Amino acid sequence: MKKNRRFKVISLFSGAGGMDLGFINAGFEIVWANDFFKEAVETYRKNIGEHIVYGDITEIKSEEMPNDVDLVIGGFPCQGFSVANTKRSVKDERNFLYKEMLRVIKDKKPKFFVAENVKGILSIGKGKVFEMIKEDFETLGYKVDARILNAAEYGVPQARERVIIIGNRIGVENPYPKITHWIDTKKYKSKKGLKKFVTVKDAIGYLSDVKICADPIVLNNNKIIYNHIASTNVYDKFWGRKYKVNQAEICDYLKEWRNKAGYTTKRVDEHFGYKYTAGHWFRKDNNSGSIPKPNDWWELKKIFKFDNKYDKVVTTMIEKEIKFEQSLRITNWDRPSDTITATGPEIHIDKERRLSVRECAILQTFPDNFEFIGSLNVMYKQIGNAVPVLLAEKIAKVIIKKLKEETS
Ligand SMILES: C[S@@+](CC[C@H](N)C(=O)[O-])C[C@H]1O[C@@H](n2cnc3c(N)ncnc32)[C@H](O)[C@@H]1O
Repeated sequence: MKKNRRFKVISLFSGAGGMDLGFINAGFEIVWANDFFKEAVETYRKNIGEHIVYGDITEIKSEEMPNDVDLVIGGFPCQGFSVANTKRSVKDERNFLYKEMLRVIKDKKPKFFVAENVKGILSIGKGKVFEMIKEDFETLGYKVDARILNAAEYGVPQARERVIIIGNRIGVENPYPKITHWIDTKKYKSKKGLKKFVTVKDAIGYLSDVKICADPIVLNNNKIIYNHIASTNVYDKFWGRKYKVNQAEICDYLKEWRNKAGYTTKRVDEHFGYKYTAGHWFRKDNNSGSIPKPNDWWELKKIFKFDNKYDKVVTTMIEKEIKFEQSLRITNWDRPSDTITATGPEIHIDKERRLSVRECAILQTFPDNFEFIGSLNVMYKQIGNAVPVLLAEKIAKVIIKKLKEETS
């Protein structure tokens, strides 16, 4: 082979191109890529190249893709597999999109393949789904391994754990990059040679005082900040009582009317079909009591026939705001961030807004000049879906090394 030939890659489920950019940075050439997420494809075209084909992979024949590729990469869709998705199942048809990757690998016979997925893939169906996937790749003649890598241990300012499946048909051990950074766990025998994790503050601290703005922002040092826009929804709503109600008072009142009506607590529970709930309406010790919800209140009124004394205060509900302190997650600051997800980014520590698109992109190690296209939520989605560029680059580097050894 020519000395400086670049190893060629087909990229499936490419999204905005986080994984692809990492492979390009390591020296690979992506010759064909695909996704059916319109804005992600536009982002990819703008920042990476025209080689991405927009369309549903299930409708694209292998003959339409280039031959003679060294590598196939792809983060096949993870929703069906996600541990965060309670409806994940062996039947979810997205679980079978890996078959498209299998098909392309079968037809193109790359030396290596790399697939990325969520941790949940290892445990669906008590691990049977993953065994099936692994066996399918092995049947094509690949030696297959899977490891969970934590991006923060590779210098990404984000504790994102993903399964990286690597396969090769050239008879070598599948290479995985060595960790370079320690994170806060007790798992290391020694931290010698490792750097300290990168914090959110290290990565995005300088943007804290930069006002969010849809247009590119030029900083004093002439650095241009793209996509520094953010959701300002830092509240959540819930239905709560309009008036302050004293639970002890309501409890005494209900007990009095329950006794008058000749009911026991057990009978009330039976009436409602509840197991223990009614017990809490007649209890006020250790804050274990509760006030019946409006529907239950009206039902109690039917059986106890109590007066109107507390009807208004117990049953008038209004929409209230839950403030961030109570329920919404604020980003870490002196540690790597938690996983940047495809929806609802965390709240910035200034508590005025969520992390901006740019901040999420930085935490996913996209370069500063990488511009995202689409509505706010669509941009958040492209970023949350991505493999951190730096992690992908480190994986790519160890594979390129093996490929070079094999062809030298
Ligand atoms: C986890 S994301 C991949 C992210 C990408 N590896 C990166 O690093 O930016 C999975 C992608 O698969 C795409 N996808 C899902 N089903 C597809 C299909 N039938 N054809 C083409 N792309 C599909 C989604 O649009 C999504 O962008």
